[in-house]
Amino acid sequence: MQDQITRIRAEAAAEIGGIRDGEHLEQFRIRYLARKGSIASLFDGLKAVPPAEKPALGKALNELRAFVQDLYDTRAQELAAGRGPASALDLTLPGRRQFSGTKHPLTQTLDEIKAIFVSMGFTIADGPEIEDDFHNFGALNFPPDHPARDMQDTFFIGKDVLLRTHTSPVQVRVMEQYPPPIRIIAPGKVYRNEAINARSYCMFHQVEGLCVDRGVTFSELKGTLITFIKQFYGSSLKYKFRPTFFPFTEPSADIYITCFLCNGKGCRVCKNGGWLEILGCGMVDPNVFRDLGYDAEKYTGYAFGMGIERIALLRYGIDDIRLFFENDIRFLGQFARQ
Ligand code: DAH
Repeated sequence: MQDQITRIRAEAAAEIGGIRDGEHLEQFRIRYLARKGSIASLFDGLKAVPPAEKPALGKALNELRAFVQDLYDTRAQELAAGRGPASALDLTLPGRRQFSGTKHPLTQTLDEIKAIFVSMGFTIADGPEIEDDFHNFGALNFPPDHPARDMQDTFFIGKDVLLRTHTSPVQVRVMEQYPPPIRIIAPGKVYRNEAINARSYCMFHQVEGLCVDRGVTFSELKGTLITFIKQFYGSSLKYKFRPTFFPFTEPSADIYITCFLCNGKGCRVCKNGGWLEILGCGMVDPNVFRDLGYDAEKYTGYAFGMGIERIALLRYGIDDIRLFFENDIRFLGQFARQ
């Protein structure tokens, strides 16, 4: 019996340090200390030992029970206080510093853009990154043989399945789902099969905008986008609208602002032109409405789209788009805001 006492004492002492929660501690109690536990059964065995050995063994057993009970009580207190076992505490280890994350510069830019449009009554819409040909091209008035389709270097996944090349398909999805009036912006990722270099990446972000109602005019488009530009870049900035072509808008325009680095004098960033193109826009082509069952006689609308990386690159004077996606903490940490 003395051997058993020694063994149980060693086992219990070895086990207690590894106990990390109340459930395991309870199993420990049941195994050693409960009425049917191993210590109680040794007490039962005492009846069978010769009377001469009884006092010494009884004393040893009492000591064992007190020892295991003490292990149990101490560990229960430590667990309740949320501490590890005393033996696992190394007070000489240096403390661990908590790093708090910062918002990614693209998220910060996007948050500001969203806040401005939300303040003008736009809500945020969302759409899938894996699109079909219809939503990405067809419904946006790109005919099957239209050269505009070649303008977009598309990642095809299947016959008519692709990674969206712009956020414009969200316009289509919103109009499929809701009747007018519509006033949404749709931020998200887009993909193009382009060589990766300092200027371009195979994935980037856009914000799409769409406003449809009775009597929406081009001057409303101008008012809304000029308000955005002034709030985002500052009210003294000069801007200009220049006609361009998009299959899904007519008329269409690109908006340029004076280069804020050189103030229009011409520099490396604006390629000496003094102007920077910041977004595309236009009045929704009636063909788009007709295909989606909107009455093109009753409703008009405007749409716009802008690239977030481009805006953030220009704004922070970053010269390589790849920096946004490498997740180098030395880069990201520079955009911490207090
Ligand atoms: N989807 C265009 C692009 O990827 C951007 C754009 C231009 C969106 C004009 C629009 C728009 O909604 O009206 O370059």
